[in-house]
Amino acid sequence: MTELFFQRHRRLRQSAGMRALVKETYLHKEDLIYPLFIIEGDNIKNEVSSMPGVFQLSLDNLATEVDEIVALGIRAVLLFGIPAEKDAVGTGAFHNHGIVQEATRLIKARHPELLVIADTCLCEFTDHGHCGVVEGDQILNDPSLDVLARTAVSQAQAGADIIAPSNMMDGFVTAIRAGLDAAGFEHIPIMSYAVKYASSYYGPFREAADGAPKFGDRKTYQMDPSNRMEAIREATSDIDEGADFLIVKPALAYMDIIRDVKNSFPVPVVAYNVSGEYSMVKAAAGNGWINEKAVVLETLLGMKRAGSDLIITYHAKDVCRWLEEN
Ligand code: PBG
Ligand code: ZN
Repeated sequence: MTELFFQRHRRLRQSAGMRALVKETYLHKEDLIYPLFIIEGDNIKNEVSSMPGVFQLSLDNLATEVDEIVALGIRAVLLFGIPAEKDAVGTGAFHNHGIVQEATRLIKARHPELLVIADTCLCEFTDHGHCGVVEGDQILNDPSLDVLARTAVSQAQAGADIIAPSNMMDGFVTAIRAGLDAAGFEHIPIMSYAVKYASSYYGPFREAADGAPKFGDRKTYQMDPSNRMEAIREATSDIDEGADFLIVKPALAYMDIIRDVKNSFPVPVVAYNVSGEYSMVKAAAGNGWINEKAVVLETLLGMKRAGSDLIITYHAKDVCRWLEEN
């Protein structure tokens, strides 16, 4: 009989101990960033209908929430604000007593070690719902930069540890870096939403943050999902302008982009596991069609394997509990 030669890959899978020994990728609590939606008003805890388990919280409900977050072992939160009033330029975004600024002060006073990442954008604060200043049906680039820089500075003044601009105007890293430096915040890093696609997966977020555009769409500033080279151009310019972290967003349909960015730039890469990705899992799990814990852990592990160092995810609190059980 002829001898058959083949590889015995199963040798390294034969027992739990052997599998653990050769495990290449891990998901840790320390990888996770948890988004929070802070709304102006009193005694508000509104569950977002398309995002079960995610709430809009008023400031008076924030202390208990962050106590829980810290107890679970989460190191960083990402703040979005929903103001009581909106206007054409998004004044609420850079107001000294704006909702994000006040939430930041509260969190830093209570838990100085919990990192506060401030989302820097205008869409939740403008009456038209766009991420920049608008004239007619145009979203103006350069006039938006001043407003964004002012917003970042006011967030840093309130105590934000990291500034995360998500507006996708050209030059926003340069403008924000210059603004922060001039105000004495040279030490505050910028976590840039460098590679942000115009995605249908943001639908539930727009309900959570009340930031849907009132006309048109975001395709003149966010990227076309078809494009891969363009992601490298966007990330290159943000690195040149001084970005300290690069975000790729969304995550699930863009795993190739996460890997490209990781291979091309020696900075921490952050995957944003966005609202629509969360809602789909929740819907399927709610129907009993998938095992939520197993699916979420596998999905986030996949994002790590694709090259993300950190993951922004609405599943963060659950993941901390599940990792504790394992
Ligand atoms: C707004 C912003 C969006 C998200 C984060 N910041 C929505 C958008 O660009 O329309 C999406 C986050 C998510 O879907 O979880 N600049
Ligand atoms: Zn925006």
